[in-house]
Amino acid sequence: MFSDPGYSLYRKNASVLPLPSAFFYGYNEKCGFATVTPEIPLTQLKKINKGKYSVDPNIKKQALRTFTYGLYAVSCADEGEVNIFTANWLTQISFDPPLIAVSVENDSKSLGMILRSRVLTINVYRDGERDLAGKLGKSAIQHPDKLNGIEYELGANGCPILHNALAWVACEVLHTAPAGDSTLIVAAVVDVGMLGEGRSLTMSEAGFRHAG
Ligand SMILES: Cc1cc2nc3c(=O)[nH]c(=O)nc-3n(C[C@H](O)[C@H](O)[C@H](O)COP(=O)(O)O)c2cc1C
Repeated sequence: MFSDPGYSLYRKNASVLPLPSAFFYGYNEKCGFATVTPEIPLTQLKKINKGKYSVDPNIKKQALRTFTYGLYAVSCADEGEVNIFTANWLTQISFDPPLIAVSVENDSKSLGMILRSRVLTINVYRDGERDLAGKLGKSAIQHPDKLNGIEYELGANGCPILHNALAWVACEVLHTAPAGDSTLIVAAVVDVGMLGEGRSLTMSEAGFRHAG
């Protein structure tokens, strides 16, 4: 497996990313695929990041929409005001310490609140909560009443915990990074709670499309 030329190139040259590497080389041989995706030099990756790399927009959309996602209600609090928005661009990124990453749209109301307060709480939607996810997936700026009729209480950090959530995870912001039309937030898990048993809502079950 380690005779893969891409792997040796990676070992010799740190400016080359080990993208498909030896694993895919063997996989392709086994399955008889004719092509092996080459490693992408960092110089080309920079072009991708600047949007100069030509990607077929339809295939890009299709390929990125094959990713699997969960669905969460991210709540925030700042200067006596609270907000909650639906997010799928969210994942755990470290065991120790437990860290999560979430990407928040730059034109959202929540981003400014989170950056000022440095806290947020992730509420895990239960399966069957598609309507709630859809309601909280609207913009608070365009729908200032979107929290009307939603049952929640405030956690110790001031952020709402949904009564219907399966679990909640309170976080403190550690780092942020620009991420195109959004901002990537890396946050540490500081408190957690389970509100019931059951399954979480997924993008696949809800049938929403927020990727591509
Ligand atoms: C299915 C779905 C997934 C979404 N995922 C995200 C996400 O990951 N990050 C994000 O900032 N907004 C996401 N949104 C949009 C937000 O829920 C919300 O409309 C937007 O961020 C503005 O929220 P706010 O102004 O209330 O803060 C998603 C919306 C839907 C319906």
